[in-house]
Amino acid sequence: MKYETQKVALPFFMVAMALFALQIVFGLAAAAAYVWPHFMSEAMPFHITRTSHTNLLIVWLLIGFMGCTYYLMPEEAENEIYSPNLAYFQLALFAIAGAGALISYQFGIHEGRHYLEQPLWAKVVITVSFLMFLFNTSLTMLKGRRTAINMVLMLGLWLAAVFWLFAFYNPDNLALDKLWWWWIVHIWVEGVWELIMAALLGYLLIKMTGVDREVIEKWLYVIVGLALFSGLLGTGHHYYWIGTPAYWQPIGSIFSTLEVIPFFAMVVFAFYMFWKGSRNHPNKAAMLWTLGSAAVAFFGAGVWGFMHTLSWINYYTHGTQITAAHGHLAFYGAYVMLVLGVITYAMPQLRRVQPYNQVLNMWAFWIMTSAMWFMTFTLTFAGVVQTHLQRVLGMNFMQIQEQLELFYIMRFGTGIFVGIAALMFIYAVFAPAREQVPATSRPLTANE
Ligand code: HEM
Ligand code: HEM
Ligand SMILES: [Fe+2]
Repeated sequence: MKYETQKVALPFFMVAMALFALQIVFGLAAAAAYVWPHFMSEAMPFHITRTSHTNLLIVWLLIGFMGCTYYLMPEEAENEIYSPNLAYFQLALFAIAGAGALISYQFGIHEGRHYLEQPLWAKVVITVSFLMFLFNTSLTMLKGRRTAINMVLMLGLWLAAVFWLFAFYNPDNLALDKLWWWWIVHIWVEGVWELIMAALLGYLLIKMTGVDREVIEKWLYVIVGLALFSGLLGTGHHYYWIGTPAYWQPIGSIFSTLEVIPFFAMVVFAFYMFWKGSRNHPNKAAMLWTLGSAAVAFFGAGVWGFMHTLSWINYYTHGTQITAAHGHLAFYGAYVMLVLGVITYAMPQLRRVQPYNQVLNMWAFWIMTSAMWFMTFTLTFAGVVQTHLQRVLGMNFMQIQEQLELFYIMRFGTGIFVGIAALMFIYAVFAPAREQVPATSRPLTANE
């Protein structure tokens, strides 16, 4: 760690990991309701559990992105964070808004739109906190060195804030409501968050492979261009059945198919840099998460996304378990794994120790990733059966759910393994270092 204020990232990572654990607890509770339909139905109905699960995911990922930004910005900008105190204050505000929303849900207080259920006051506090974060990090950058990495990162974060503003606009007309709703839900994960992903990936690759910055930067610009070109009009794949004009069927199908390309470019980018690189970085676990993220994002977003994105296929699969299968693997690969990768990379330096507990960390990687894959397969099979029985044969929705029980049991089982792996990960990065530093390993240089 070269700059003192990089340590600002630490509390962000801690809060993010606590909420990650909580997200999985709610996921397990929701999955239990699929197996035992009356599970906690009085104490916490399914829609509340589900809302808590998805909200926690988004909130901890955003806190994770902030932590990553505070960590890398001083190195990239060659400048200390403008105001560490503002960062801590802004984290506290964000956490209060998140916790407040979570508690409100338990009392049935919410705004009803998926992912945007936060009560209005919480939305306002989230906005204020995020603007403070943008102010703090942008100023750090503007007063220091501007690189492709910190500029693409800040562009992604600023655009995320701009599109978030649509959360405040909720027309009464349901078709219009959905139309604007996707401007956040889709354009975040398939547009502006991709810029954040590409920048973080680029940062990790520069640090760990030793490949020239110029090479990484060229890739970065290509990926950003591809992501925005395909992702914006790709929103059309959510405009098939909500009452929008028919031209969205070809536009959505074509542009969302093109969305696969930036994800493909990112996986090629990551593996190519890894093979080309000269540096043998001691943090093997961080490299594993980095490559894993690019690969799983390609499958989860690219392959599982393409599977149901053409309008004449989506006609059958819309809103089935296929969607849930894709949602899980895409979010996990693109964003969860990447944030875990940055944490794995940064923590030893924040704690000023050599990479440690690496073996445990890599076990967490393999168990968590295998379990998420297995969950994706069970949901995909469930979705295929569901699509056929419901949309082809026209069977009744609840009758079909009985047919799917085995898949739901298996999904619950894989969830337990994800939970165990998450605890292993948290232990690996935060607990005392156990490993002896091998005599052969050299100290990290300031650049790594
Ligand atoms: C990291 C990137 C991505 C993430 C995190 C993601 C996540 C999600 C989630 C959570 C949903 C469900 C939304 C809801 O109905 O509430 C969804 C829907 C969908 N996604 Fe993605 N996605 C990503 C990329 C892609 C890509 C690249 C494609 C196309 C190639 C795609 C195609 C679709 C389609 C067609 C739907 C609608 C499914 C339906 O009609 O039920 N996604 N995505
Ligand atoms: C880090 C890992 C995870 C991520 C990124 C994640 C993400 C998501 C997302 C995006 C949704 C909304 C899906 C949609 O609208 O189509 C969702 C719903 C859900 N998740 Fe997770 N989740 C994760 C882990 C888990 C775990 C471990 C379980 C437990 C088995 C779980 C169980 C559920 C359930 C039951 C739902 C509700 C699905 C429905 O409405 O039918 N998730 N999750
Ligand atoms: Fe989408």
